[in-house]
Amino acid sequence: MIHRIGAACTFAWCVTIALGPSTAQSAGSRHVPPRTTDISYYYDLADNSVFRPITRVTDPALGIRKLMRHPRQALNVDEHDQVRLPSTWWQPRLGYRTVTPQQIKTGPGPGTGPVAGRWKVTRAKTQGVTPGFFIKDQAGESFIIKFDPPRQAEMATAADVVASHLFWAAGYNVPDNSIVRFQREDLDIATDGTFTDELGRKQPLTQEVLDRVLSRVAQNVDGSYRGMASRLLKGKPLGPFEYRGRRTDDPEDLVPHEHRRELRGMWPICAWVNHADCRGPNSLDLWVTAGGRSFVRHHLIDFGSCLGSAAVAARSPQTGSEYFVDYGVIARSLLTLGLARSGWEETVDPELPSIGFIEGFDFDPGSWRPDYPNPAFDERTTRDIVWGTRIVAAFTEEHIRAAVELAHYTDPRATEYLVQVLIQRRNLLMSRWLSTTPTATAPFEP
Ligand SMILES: Nc1ncnc2c1ncn2[C@@H]1O[C@H](COP(=O)(O)OP(=O)(O)OP(=O)(O)O)[C@@H](O)[C@H]1O
Ligand SMILES: [Mg+2]
Repeated sequence: MIHRIGAACTFAWCVTIALGPSTAQSAGSRHVPPRTTDISYYYDLADNSVFRPITRVTDPALGIRKLMRHPRQALNVDEHDQVRLPSTWWQPRLGYRTVTPQQIKTGPGPGTGPVAGRWKVTRAKTQGVTPGFFIKDQAGESFIIKFDPPRQAEMATAADVVASHLFWAAGYNVPDNSIVRFQREDLDIATDGTFTDELGRKQPLTQEVLDRVLSRVAQNVDGSYRGMASRLLKGKPLGPFEYRGRRTDDPEDLVPHEHRRELRGMWPICAWVNHADCRGPNSLDLWVTAGGRSFVRHHLIDFGSCLGSAAVAARSPQTGSEYFVDYGVIARSLLTLGLARSGWEETVDPELPSIGFIEGFDFDPGSWRPDYPNPAFDERTTRDIVWGTRIVAAFTEEHIRAAVELAHYTDPRATEYLVQVLIQRRNLLMSRWLSTTPTATAPFEP
């Protein structure tokens, strides 16, 4: 009897997994949002740089799988090795259906940014690494506005807009990001505007605080400001998702995140656009209602540290080659008394301040790594990488150019440089992971 109950439970679990998220919910879940979560930046960094690597090295099951060359494959794929749909994480776009360069320009839409005119500043972002603030435009739409560091005008704002549109075309849920220009006089302070002081206390927002925020960012020669406006995602924010485990109070969240194809297979896409800041705290889950049901939708946010940008400065040449704490590099340095040279030491700085540092000649498509280990990337297999590389391969030069033009670089050399670097990096990924040899502009047809 117990055996039969066990078999029935296993069967029910398999059916739930196989039928995917929407069916799982209609099969009797509570229609209430899961609880809000948060991930501390510092904890995430320490956990993924120190604690998790130790548990991985000491995990016997993982060791045996490695030895036997029998990795655990992604769990949510069908018989064609494709993501089982519907997915609340990703949907088929480039590589699966026609996406025009114009559609890339619109992205998640509408792509128009805040209505020009006076904006009400509702909250100043005085905490975190980059300064910014939240506004409401005259149409009542809310945005977060982020900026460039004074010495790298256009760099971080461009990265946020270009990469978010590339990720949208690749199938991910992202906010509607665009470049905006405004004058200091366009800003009013909302009557209930706030900021958080050094002691973490909420305080009323003042003109002085706003001026302090603006004093830390790049300003145009005519006195105006360039910003990146990210339209606030609709729905109830539930905090970031993690790249491992599940939200146990979300009945649709059945596959451990590190075993999701959309997250493991994002590795080549991140490598392509140098998204070294791809980590849990740069994601956002929202409780949304669409198609007659309520559910958790998973978004990627914050692309200000992609391409050649590290948000507050240019990327360093070792980005993509080494983790912040890279035990392999530490060991090699110790053993060779620091004499071993690294590939990145030969790379050439484009010397374009609006680009920062990214290049396409020495990019290694086999070993790119983010700033610190990402649990889903750690689990990636060749099948996951090929899945993501096929998406990268579907971007034509026209698609890439459409996204890069959204940066509105003042220097035309920056536009041209970035387009060429993205083509070079795409081609290197294709040569490494797909059997077709790429030409300069022809896309691979998956
Ligand atoms: N488009 C958006 N819709 C809703 N919330 C957003 C959006 N963009 C940003 N946020 C919220 O603002 C927070 C900070 O945004 P973001 O990660 O883009 O900036 P950041 O410079 O990394 O900030 P910090 O250093 O404070 O983390 C996010 O954690 C998220 O909660
Ligand atoms: Mg962030």
